[in-house]
Amino acid sequence: MKYLGILLVVCSFFSCKKEDVYTNVELVFEQPSNFPEPHYDLSTNPLTEKGFELGKKLFYDGSLAADGVVSCAFCHQQQFAFTHHGHRFSHGVEDREGKRNSQPIQNMAYQKQFSWDGAAFHLDLFPIIPITNPVEMDETVTDVIQKLKDNEEYRELFGLAFDDGQINVENTFKAMSQFMIMMVSANSKYDKYVRGEGAVSFTSQEQRGLELFKNKCSTCHTSDLFTDDAFRNNGLSIDPNINDLGRMTVTLIETDKYKFKVPSLRNVEVTGPYMHDGRFGSLKSVLDFYSTGVRETENLDPLLKNTDGTLGIPLNEQEKGDIIVFLKTLTDNEFLTDERFAE
Ligand code: HEC
Ligand code: HEC
Repeated sequence: MKYLGILLVVCSFFSCKKEDVYTNVELVFEQPSNFPEPHYDLSTNPLTEKGFELGKKLFYDGSLAADGVVSCAFCHQQQFAFTHHGHRFSHGVEDREGKRNSQPIQNMAYQKQFSWDGAAFHLDLFPIIPITNPVEMDETVTDVIQKLKDNEEYRELFGLAFDDGQINVENTFKAMSQFMIMMVSANSKYDKYVRGEGAVSFTSQEQRGLELFKNKCSTCHTSDLFTDDAFRNNGLSIDPNINDLGRMTVTLIETDKYKFKVPSLRNVEVTGPYMHDGRFGSLKSVLDFYSTGVRETENLDPLLKNTDGTLGIPLNEQEKGDIIVFLKTLTDNEFLTDERFAE
């Protein structure tokens, strides 16, 4: 009797009851009202607190790479909308340099294809590319899984995050997707303006920039995601040393040569340098390019050919300035400093 009394006291302190055992909490995906429906099927990978936490740990973990240093976050830094700031080409293990500029990671749930040429058609499959790429993390997926299995903290986290608790490729990539799917950027000045939130208003220059953008840019940089998710050639001159074929690398179809994914322009103020090869260091040089630098290369988008035979988008200096001021309203400081996504 005496001992039972003690046991009851101990139990009430240390929660022996089964229902007190930690249960994983579901996370709500908040859909911004000015966005289209997400493309990612969340029912196949329900977002949970522990899945997200695990995905975040994996994203920031350099030990997954061959050199034990280059994590996903090495090339995807939060304050630059998860791009590799200051690098024209990203470089990975042993400073090996790739030939493409790091893309932002934001609003991934809305995209159908990933990377500049659409090499991956599902977010859950994407991590294979950076993990195995010799100029990025240079690892094998088998090794990565073994490293995770050898790590006690990961064993515990996988156990909490997934019903089957398995450390395998599927769960690893699903956890990474959960982290990336939660990275929604939808609280820029522009968003608050279009949603009519608070007392946000545009200056007359921002308003002029928005109108110019709608007339001259939004056929490709469409919707409030600022991309039509298509592959197009916007007329960049071809660098003969690299000769990146873009979408054709994946499809092998001639008419896809030199086409690249239309990038979202969200947070574009901080994602420079610009274009798939990071050739432009400023937004001013991007607009100079659209007005006078567009070249007739194979599969140039017909939208950039004018009826008078000229190429590109005619813009005077004032118009370029107005568009740049508008583009800066797409900067979402809440996203760039959101603690949930920070290391
Ligand atoms: C060495 C630098 C580097 C590392 C490390 C790296 N990435 Fe990337 N990431 C890039 C580059 C460069 C691209 C563009 C790739 C291309 O077009 O070929 C990219 C593209 C992406 C995209 C596609 C975005 C879009 O809009 O289509 C996602 C998602 C992504 N990376 C996630 C990750 C994850 C997850 C990891 C870690 C497992 C990772 N990256 C590691 C440089 C890197
Ligand atoms: C015909 C479709 C099309 C039109 C019209 C267009 N763009 Fe683009 N834009 C693209 C494509 C495709 C890319 C990526 C090209 C590449 O890297 O090879 C791009 C890239 C960009 C980038 C670089 C973004 C980054 O993350 O590197 C900026 C900035 C940009 N466009 C702004 C504009 C502005 C401003 C206008 C209007 C003046 C405009 N675009 C009109 C298709 C278009």
